[in-house]
Amino acid sequence: MSVRIAVLGLGSVGKGVLEMIAKKDLDIIVTGVADSKSGLIDPSGLDIGAVLLSKRTGSCGSVAISAKDVVSRADYDILVEVTPTNAGDGEPAFSYMKLAIERGKHVVTSNKGPISLHLKELKGLARERGVFVRYEATVGGAIPIMHTLGNGLAGNEILALYGVLNGTCNYILTRMAAEGLTYDQALAEARELGYAEADPTYDVKGIDAAIKLVILANTIWDNGVSLDRVDITGIDLLTTDALRLAEEKDCTIRLIAEAFPNRGVLRVSPRIIRKDHPLVFEGSLNAITLETDMAGEITLIGKGAGSIETASAIIGDILFISSHVRCN
Ligand SMILES: NC(=O)c1ccc[n+]([C@@H]2O[C@H](COP(=O)([O-])OP(=O)(O)OC[C@H]3O[C@@H](n4cnc5c(N)ncnc54)[C@H](OP(=O)(O)O)[C@@H]3O)[C@@H](O)[C@H]2O)c1
Repeated sequence: MSVRIAVLGLGSVGKGVLEMIAKKDLDIIVTGVADSKSGLIDPSGLDIGAVLLSKRTGSCGSVAISAKDVVSRADYDILVEVTPTNAGDGEPAFSYMKLAIERGKHVVTSNKGPISLHLKELKGLARERGVFVRYEATVGGAIPIMHTLGNGLAGNEILALYGVLNGTCNYILTRMAAEGLTYDQALAEARELGYAEADPTYDVKGIDAAIKLVILANTIWDNGVSLDRVDITGIDLLTTDALRLAEEKDCTIRLIAEAFPNRGVLRVSPRIIRKDHPLVFEGSLNAITLETDMAGEITLIGKGAGSIETASAIIGDILFISSHVRCN
């Protein structure tokens, strides 16, 4: 039986999801879509090619249909929520998700805002309604960290985690070390190549990595931590000299996010690490190391962002849900 989805947000991630569903001819029917200004609803299934074409030239649908209309009226099994992250209060995505769950719909999202702020509440509501809330794409892009934690490592105690959770910072540090660029030069290059946002504050000040650390910590230990519990230092004050000094000791500097629950440590900061450490790699990749009681140390590495890479995580969550429940 096909699974029916409604997609909120047709930017880089939303379009990637639709493109891959069409290209791979997946058994997924799209019954609703919305962007910031318009929406479309069709219970028998939208023509994905036509939606993407319409979006290329402007809005995806009718201005008479809002995102909220799609959430509350469309006929779908899973709400795919891929609108921009609002780290302040998680809105309007948080309200869309609650509305979908109240309707007995599953939720799949790449949106770090509501998941970092309201995971406990969303999980509680979902449990009451017997639906899934899945958020693989919120941390590490294509890296299947949530599937690994919930499935492959189920039964393990996770003793600690550390990782490189922001590709923009990793790219800047790589370029500073390799070419002796200043922070400003490396940032300008990252912007030119599309690795850094026009406003890179969240990335370079370590806030994006800290938000992902909060999501991981709450997923693993269910300890209700919030962003203000994370000790955060960014890379924006790092000098080329600091990287050169590290280099002289066969080390380099990486922005490391780490959690050691037994010691109460939740921290994001630039760290000097040996060049042969698994968390030292070039460019914009992400990686996460888990210390576990049975499996020992496991490191996952992969693309932390990108339209198709993030779509991989979203589609993985959609297919997980459709294989675990009866969708019709
Ligand atoms: N891009 C990545 O590689 C990546 C990776 C992991 C996670 N994420 C997360 O995934 C989410 C989407 O990222 P993105 O890169 O696709 O963003 P994006 O390119 O900026 O696209 C956002 C989309 O959401 C729509 N939108 C904005 N406000 C809306 C609202 N209130 N209701 C309905 N739609 C609304 C926008 O509409 P308009 O088209 O009308 O402007 C746009 O289509 C973000 O939360 C981001 O943090 C992204």
